[in-house]
Amino acid sequence: MSPVIPADDAGMARAVAALEHGEVVAFPTETVYGLGAAAHDPRAVRRIFALKGRPSDHPLIVHLPAGADLARWANPVPDVARTVAEAFWPGPLTLILQRTDAVPDAVTGGQETVALRVPDHPVAATLLSAFGDGIAAPSANRFGHVSPTRADHVVREFDDPDLLILEGGASRIGLESTILDVTGPMPTILRPGAVTRAMLEAHLGRPVADAGPRADTPRTPGQRDSHYAPHAPTRLVPVSELRTADCVASGSALLLREAEPPVDETVTTFRLPHDAAAYAHGLYAALRSLDAHHPTEIVIERPPDDADWIAILDRLTRASHPTGPARAPRWSEPPNVTSKEAKEEP
Ligand code: TXA
Ligand code: MG
Repeated sequence: MSPVIPADDAGMARAVAALEHGEVVAFPTETVYGLGAAAHDPRAVRRIFALKGRPSDHPLIVHLPAGADLARWANPVPDVARTVAEAFWPGPLTLILQRTDAVPDAVTGGQETVALRVPDHPVAATLLSAFGDGIAAPSANRFGHVSPTRADHVVREFDDPDLLILEGGASRIGLESTILDVTGPMPTILRPGAVTRAMLEAHLGRPVADAGPRADTPRTPGQRDSHYAPHAPTRLVPVSELRTADCVASGSALLLREAEPPVDETVTTFRLPHDAAAYAHGLYAALRSLDAHHPTEIVIERPPDDADWIAILDRLTRASHPTGPARAPRWSEPPNVTSKEAKEEP
């Protein structure tokens, strides 16, 4: 089992030493937990791919300490990148820029662009400034699976005694960062997140494009049709259809927001808050709790289509895509939820 270590001075020193030795360290961010390695060290970066089971041509995000010199990693750094970085960093925004030679192929999957982000989490910030260099990190889950928002989620993803996991509590936001491509004539959102198109447009004073649900290239695995997926087959169902029990088979699990369908005792239910930010915060932990019951199916009440819900709907759509999840092996730990009514955990 991978050790979870407190993010005190001793834990931080251990994590920095591990990174300096080319090892992989899992750490919390405000979005989700990341699986990090020294971005300048191709051998260390390749260890991330091996652990994650991710194809090696899929690029990673380089996490930077606040105030890092962008010109080391990206050239050119257009004004639009500087403007949004100033406004939203540290924070849940990743910028795609043309890379410099300092960025190894292992990080970018061989392509000429690099993804950069300054996370807004005290543990990540301390780790990055103590390490003093970029940390390449995807979300700390097996390829295609639900992202982790707590240290114990990372423990259940990987069974590696050498993987240090820094404790940082529950990720505040709970969904991965917004990805904004600023390499072209028009800034374009490749993955929606907590930094919305409206927020970006307001700061830039110009339109921002949204590549939409089919921003689909093999180079952006988070944009594959099926991703962020529980192990159980998952279905997104309009609230109107959930007024009757007909669409909920026995042995299934339900993720609800406002619907109150009549269900029998074989159905496990989990209720998330009405508010979009609170829903996002709890979503991945809820999917994991429900999945841990090994339901025949997870049925998710479709949230509203309003602007606040765009990132959530993007993830729910991918989690429930009929091509199915990547079907990574189940986690090494037994389910930690035993009651019929899965409880929201802290
Ligand atoms: O919130 C987040 O972004 C989290 C935390 C740990 O920072 N990280 C994360 O990483 O979600 P990952 O690897 O699971 O997703 C990063 C996404 C992938 O879809 C990847 O393909 C895309 O960013 N990406 C990375 N580099 C890219 C590039 N040069 N061009 C286009 N997309 C890129
Ligand atoms: Mg991911």
